[in-house]
Amino acid sequence: MGLRSSRWYSGSDRNSYIHRAWMRRGLPADAFDGERPHLAIASTASALTPCNSHLDEVAAAVSDGVWAAGGVPHVLPVMSLGETNLRPTAMLWRNLAAMAAEEMLRANPIDGVVLLGGCDKTIPALLMAAASVDLPAVVMPGGPMLTGHFRGAPLGCGTDVWRLSEEVRAGTLSREAFLDSGSSMIRSRGHCNTMGTASTMACVAEALGMTIPGTAGIPAPDSRLLERAHDTGRLAVGLVRDDRRPSRIMTRAAFVNAIVTLAAIGGSTNAVVHLLAVAGRLGVELSLDDFDRVGSGVPLLADLQPAGRHLMDDLFRAGGLTAVLKQVEDLLDPSAITVTGAPLTSCLAGAEIWDEDVIRRRADPLLPDAGIAVLRGNLAPDGAVIKPAAASPELLRHRGRAVVFDSVEDLHARLDSPDLPVDETSVLVLRGCGPRGYPGMPEVGNLPLPAKLLAKGVRDMVRVSDARMSGTAYGTVVLHVAPEAAAGGPLARVRTGDPIVLDVAARVLRVDVPDAELAARPPVTTGHARPARGWERLYVEHVTQADQGADLDFLTGSSGDAVGRDSH
Ligand code: FES
Repeated sequence: MGLRSSRWYSGSDRNSYIHRAWMRRGLPADAFDGERPHLAIASTASALTPCNSHLDEVAAAVSDGVWAAGGVPHVLPVMSLGETNLRPTAMLWRNLAAMAAEEMLRANPIDGVVLLGGCDKTIPALLMAAASVDLPAVVMPGGPMLTGHFRGAPLGCGTDVWRLSEEVRAGTLSREAFLDSGSSMIRSRGHCNTMGTASTMACVAEALGMTIPGTAGIPAPDSRLLERAHDTGRLAVGLVRDDRRPSRIMTRAAFVNAIVTLAAIGGSTNAVVHLLAVAGRLGVELSLDDFDRVGSGVPLLADLQPAGRHLMDDLFRAGGLTAVLKQVEDLLDPSAITVTGAPLTSCLAGAEIWDEDVIRRRADPLLPDAGIAVLRGNLAPDGAVIKPAAASPELLRHRGRAVVFDSVEDLHARLDSPDLPVDETSVLVLRGCGPRGYPGMPEVGNLPLPAKLLAKGVRDMVRVSDARMSGTAYGTVVLHVAPEAAAGGPLARVRTGDPIVLDVAARVLRVDVPDAELAARPPVTTGHARPARGWERLYVEHVTQADQGADLDFLTGSSGDAVGRDSH
């Protein structure tokens, strides 16, 4: 079968004339001969997505690679999501970005696509789009930034913002010093340098087989990033010629490899929601419990913030993701192939650890069991997650009285009140922050601690919510409680003073209130948004719960690359 793009360009009728003539503009005549694959470079470059603002240069290197391999590149700007800028939360727009990218990939005369992302939601949105349109696709991550230093110590993007801001609230750091650190935090182009969501999703994309092995984690300013971008452009042309599509790469075996990777790198809890959404687009059977079952017993090997000490450029110089994966090779499914056509496991042969302080050997892990734990009980009938690697071990089994906040606004209004009935054994509960309730499931699950407890030296407490948390955050934080309060979940019926039981080893999250009494209480729905129009309304009416990936119900599945009608 000929190239998909030739359905636009080949022929001698009026329509093919129009398609070719308007696209010429300096392209060589043989660009439309039906032999040269046309590649979209779906770029999330945007000045308002600072982590991706350098992607124009990456796109140029990809373009060179496409030309060099005989293809024809076209940069396709797609909706970009800047994590630090977007209100009310970038997650509200992930599905819109995925939907827009999917439709533009399908509607345009292209044969394949290179996906350029970086900041948290951009790679997930592009993967969801690529999965649903199922054109040959490869991810080229923009890479993490270099490490900045403040007062002689390295700064982890995000993680140290949380830590330093809590020090200000505790009175152990001046506000001036805190503000000073801001100029050191972002040292270079690139996304956050911790194992936050952006780094996690780049690594997960690689584990899924969707990057050239060894790509995730190349620092954004490193010249090897552009070299790899060039290689990725070349490979994309080969992907089209081999008709290697995402549905052949992102199989269930690939998702198993992604979950193993997520545990070994101490990756972000956000990857759970994103992977469930991508799997949903592909029709791959993947459940919340797979994360617990597959991740169980996988050791934490990468000593990176927020679960550890180092940062992404340390991981790269220490051997990178492939060195980590080499240590857990026996846990990976060898049947899963990458964009190269070879199994992921066959790409690990030369991987070595160059700094065992950053990447631990299997025999000497940071933690023997780093998988994300899935909790259930009468407080989370459809599940909740916790990242034990980023929690305080002594709090993983805990019983304490709930202090309930109905919304983020309620939290901010009352958290530091001297009258708040809270002590260090309390469990902070935040509701109204799920996909539907906020809307968009913001990263507020690592709610700050009450100032009066910070002043006493308390630095962690059990927190429970239907929100997400930043991949750069840490603490004994139970997230993604499903169903959320706004969807009628039991979280809406919890009251301040109720005993909450967390037992991570037993995978339990419970409120010690008789079920009948809990059911009889009227649900609290204050703080839940009711959007009147536009995307927010569509989102609230159709978003699924966290355990389903928080995709829109009508976006799950694939429509393939077929276009029903011509434009003329
Ligand atoms: Fe963009 Fe952290 S804010 S990756």
